[in-house]
Amino acid sequence: MRDRLSDYAALPDGLDQKLDLESLFSAPSELWLEIGFGAGEHVAAQALANPSVGLLACEHYLNGVSSCLAHLEKNEIKNTKLHNGDARDLMDQLPDASISKVFLLYPDPWPKARHHKRRFINPDNLDAFARIMHGGAVLRVASDIPDYIQWTMDHLEERTEFSLLGDPASGFREPWTDWPGTRYEAKALREGRTPAYLTFERNPQ
Ligand SMILES: C[S@@+](CC[C@H](N)C(=O)[O-])C[C@H]1O[C@@H](n2cnc3c(N)ncnc32)[C@H](O)[C@@H]1O
Repeated sequence: MRDRLSDYAALPDGLDQKLDLESLFSAPSELWLEIGFGAGEHVAAQALANPSVGLLACEHYLNGVSSCLAHLEKNEIKNTKLHNGDARDLMDQLPDASISKVFLLYPDPWPKARHHKRRFINPDNLDAFARIMHGGAVLRVASDIPDYIQWTMDHLEERTEFSLLGDPASGFREPWTDWPGTRYEAKALREGRTPAYLTFERNPQ
C-alpha cells in the first residue's frame, strides 16, 4: 500500500516535507481540493472529467485511500495527488489564493451538541479556506443532515469572504450538473434522507 501510494502522494516523505506543487502537477489549469473523500469515487470522476486540473485529495481513513488508489490506477489518472491524513495539515502548506475549487462532501455530522466543535465547518477552517481560495473560487458542501446544512449556511453567512450562490427558496436540492454522487450519498438516499448542495463563492480579496 505504501509503495502504491508513493506515486500518488502529495507529500511522499510525510508531513515534514514541504508541499511542492510544481513537482506534483505540470502546469495545471487550476488546483482543486477535496476533503474527506471516503472511497474516492468523486475524486476519480472529477479527475477524469477535468484532465487539465490538478486535484489534491485528503482522507485520513486508510481503507478509503486504498479504494481511491484503485480507482486512480484502474483509470490511469495522473492529475490527482492524495494526502492520507488530516486535510488541515495539507491546507496549512498551501499558498495563499492557490485553490479554485474545494469539495467538502458529506462531512462527518457530529450530531451531539458537545461534539459540534469537531465539525469541519468551523471558524478556523473557514479562515483557512478564505486564505487558500482565490477570489471567484468556489466551495461545494453537500450534506444530508438538516442541522449541518443550516450550521454551514449560518457559519458562512457570518463571513465577509464568502457568498452563498443560488436561490435559498430552492432549498438547494438540485445536485451540481457535473455531480457523479458519492458512496455516502447513495446510502443516505437509500435511507430516505434528502441532501442539500451548497455552493459558496470566495469574494474578491
Ligand atoms: C461521512 S464521510 C463522507 C465520505 C465521502 N465524501 C462520501 O461522500 O462518500 C466523511 C469522511 O471525511 C473524512 N474526514 C473527516 N475529517 C477529515 C479531515 N480533517 N481530513 C481528512 N479527512 C477527513 C472521514 O474519514 C470520512 O471518510
